[in-house]
Amino acid sequence: MAKTALITGILGQDGPYLAKLLLEKDYKVYGMIRRYAYPNFANLDYLGITNNIELVEGDLADQSSLYNLIKSIRPDEVYNLAAQSFVGSSFEQPIFTTEVNSLGVLYLLEAIRNYSPKTRFYQASTSEMFGLSHTNYIQDENTPFYPRSPYAVSKVYAYWITVNYREAYGLFAVNGILFNHESPIRGIQFVTRKITDGVARIKLGLADEIRLGNLSAKRDWGFAGDFVEAMYLMLQQEKPEDFVIGTGEAHSVEEFVKTAFEYAGIKDWKKYIKIDPRFMRPSEVPYLKANSKKAEKILGWKPKVKFEELVQMMVDADLARLKNRTKK
Ligand code: NAP
Ligand code: GDD
Repeated sequence: MAKTALITGILGQDGPYLAKLLLEKDYKVYGMIRRYAYPNFANLDYLGITNNIELVEGDLADQSSLYNLIKSIRPDEVYNLAAQSFVGSSFEQPIFTTEVNSLGVLYLLEAIRNYSPKTRFYQASTSEMFGLSHTNYIQDENTPFYPRSPYAVSKVYAYWITVNYREAYGLFAVNGILFNHESPIRGIQFVTRKITDGVARIKLGLADEIRLGNLSAKRDWGFAGDFVEAMYLMLQQEKPEDFVIGTGEAHSVEEFVKTAFEYAGIKDWKKYIKIDPRFMRPSEVPYLKANSKKAEKILGWKPKVKFEELVQMMVDADLARLKNRTKK
């Protein structure tokens, strides 16, 4: 019998990559979407899998919808990827962020505990939980949390409630503590995609600047397509455990900008970058770099796409997407 998986956040970045991987493994994939007047299938379309997913309606803020879904599908695996995932917006909408990212996870775990306790559960945890905390500028499963935004705080709750349901009720529930991962279908608000979209527009004569905030922040940027393999592997283990997933390299926003402009063949990148205080955060995470040795050892997982390749892939995709546009 084919395995079944329910993916929340199916219309975001990671949902489509994970769904594609599971479909290749012959899973039946249910994708949870909210109620929209105009759902946006662009990311599923980009990967060519829109018609292969069974879409089901539900909202992390609506407990009853999650109960009904888990009760009726009883999936083998649930990947909880849905979230208010933009750190910047979490300062503007802290309550909504917490309701979805913290309580939403509790609702899902309660639904599994009550109606389908054999279901394996993956929680999309994040390196943002480390915030200011590191040991010699590297973070692993033993690094304490020091969250720096309402988003990060909400994810710390989700992390611990997942651990608690594992320990208290014996659920197969795990946290993937993923560092930043990007792709051509990364949301346009996030800095990498904002940069590659901006560079493509400048190259094609559609724009003449990119407005950014803090250029000195460093992130461990990997490719989403690689990272979803780690999610899948975590749910195939004998024992439920939490894992840090990243590339082990940190680069600054400025390095990302420079690499993207250079790849597009545009000289003097500084001319096109405007620093805009609107994109600064009230409290920032200056440095994230993963030590994924545990994942390498136990899951056999290693990232394949390197930083330069990732930047190039994203610039190429944005150039292709925009090439027929004309300046308004
Ligand atoms: P994303 O592109 O922002 O996708 C998140 C999805 O969650 C969106 O499709 C959104 O739906 C959905 N969603 C938001 N609120 C919801 C609600 N109340 N009910 C149901 N669905 C809701 O995020 P991503 O980059 O794919 O990341 C996936 C997960 O990993 C997130 O939980 C994120 O916090 C976490 N994470 C991401 C990274 C990263 O670097 N990408 C790193 C670590 C952890 P709409 O389409 O309706 O807006
Ligand atoms: N978005 C954005 N826009 N960020 C900017 C800008 C800008 O104009 N200018 C500078 N930055 C800096 C931010 O201050 C931050 O230090 C860094 O670029 C990365 O910002 P984002 O791309 O928004 O990602 P993030 O690191 O805050 O959060 C992402 O990664 C987390 C994992 O570490 C999201 O995907 C989170 O959901 C995820 O948990």
